[in-house]
Amino acid sequence: MDYYLGLDLGTGSLKTVLFDTNGKEVAVSEMQYPLYQPHNGWSEQDPEDWYQASLKTMNNVMKSSGVPKESVKGLGISGQMMGAVMLDKDGGVLRRAILWNDGRTSESCEHVREIVGDDLFMKYSLTPARPGLTAAKIQWVKDNEPEIYTKVAHIQLPKDYLRYKLTGDYATEVSDASAMQLLDIPNRCWATEILDKMELTEEMLGKVYESQEITGYLLPEVAEASGLTVECAVVGGASDNAAAGIGTGIVAPGRAMTTIGTSGTVFAYSEKPLLDPYKSVYTFCMPIPGAWHYMGSVNSAGASLKWWRDNFYPEDAEYVAINEDAISSKIGANRLLYLPYLNGEQSPHFNLTCRGSFVGLAAIHTKKDMTRAVMEGVTYALRDIMSGIRNIGVEVDRVHMCGGGSKSDFWRQLLSDVYGLPVLLPDMKSENSAALGVAILAAVGCGAYPSVVDACDKIIKMRDKVYTPDAEKMTKYDKVYKEFDALYPKLKDNFKSILQL
Ligand code: XUL
Repeated sequence: MDYYLGLDLGTGSLKTVLFDTNGKEVAVSEMQYPLYQPHNGWSEQDPEDWYQASLKTMNNVMKSSGVPKESVKGLGISGQMMGAVMLDKDGGVLRRAILWNDGRTSESCEHVREIVGDDLFMKYSLTPARPGLTAAKIQWVKDNEPEIYTKVAHIQLPKDYLRYKLTGDYATEVSDASAMQLLDIPNRCWATEILDKMELTEEMLGKVYESQEITGYLLPEVAEASGLTVECAVVGGASDNAAAGIGTGIVAPGRAMTTIGTSGTVFAYSEKPLLDPYKSVYTFCMPIPGAWHYMGSVNSAGASLKWWRDNFYPEDAEYVAINEDAISSKIGANRLLYLPYLNGEQSPHFNLTCRGSFVGLAAIHTKKDMTRAVMEGVTYALRDIMSGIRNIGVEVDRVHMCGGGSKSDFWRQLLSDVYGLPVLLPDMKSENSAALGVAILAAVGCGAYPSVVDACDKIIKMRDKVYTPDAEKMTKYDKVYKEFDALYPKLKDNFKSILQL
């Protein structure tokens, strides 16, 4: 039997999962690393931490599984999206990586919009300049740290920096590169017109591959440290959301997914690179040649619940009490609303200066109501994105759910009632779907399956239990959702001025 590794480079941790060719999970190892927030809204990590975590967790799964190293034919990396890792000419890290949920780039986004122009961004990246995407982060370093920027020779996404450390190659692939605003998304290559305007070169960014293509092989010192061989192939891999899309079988029209990790994402397959006329969601490359997807993210989804847990349920490591408390409150949390904008928001608001709130708080409210309000608020924000995707005309008949949040039975039913759609889970540990997605890409790249769609058809099975919307609850949630939706426009300016206090 052959084996494939999926490395999921997340914001909280790096998780390595070993799968056999049939997609059966054999071993898993996870390692956490720090997140640095030196100023309100900033979010950074040390890329060296990712590399060390990858070596350690690969070594752990090799040891605990007892699988012979020659049988591991390939690996894929799933990466947190939209970051910027700046390297000098020798591949040395010049500053900590600026992450996807960093809030410093409102001004640099306006600057890059002036330099490139929204017409060019729309033509190639299918979205206007957005502060959360990589181009604005590159511009921030250029504008604010010129002494560092003059030394920049390579700019990599987080998972592509890890690829460089593992293989020595500078490369990326279409799904993750889609969120840099530097890719020609319809044609799946660098948008040279945008690069020219930003004074970037293709050499700085590396070669763009399709996600299942082999980009290199493990370096001898990496093979040694991780317990693998130099014949272990590294494929393009995917953004974490696109990897979860593959890992839950979103490989045909009509299929959509919701993943709840640190962020929460709604994701739907598309056969064509069509624009969202309302500009509320992104159109990105699917990790399947000739396919695309729509997606939008809630910045603080699992992060909202983790923030709540860390402050008010510090002992509740597995969120057991949190779930019980949420269930014991009522639909609408006894007339309490929570806006989950702890770290600004992506879709549909694209605003780094909004912040979270509880609205409607009364003396009767308990911690239980607040807990439920947090989970509902995140779910209403996800529905904003689902509505955005449906407004384009995308037919969604069911939703596959994955990520850490999918472990909660309560959240599965909540999602179904708030979306008004059936929710299904993959027949595996649904929090490991992104790792499975990139392990599938590795298996395809190494020739175990003729295509990603064929591999998904054979590997991905859904559980029998389907969470179906309850008509009465749906009507109640609908009313609360309308109130939720009305709040952002009213509070938007206050959020900004509060930050200036
Ligand atoms: C992308 C997003 C996140 C990151 C980090 O829109 O919000 O999912 O990929 O995991």
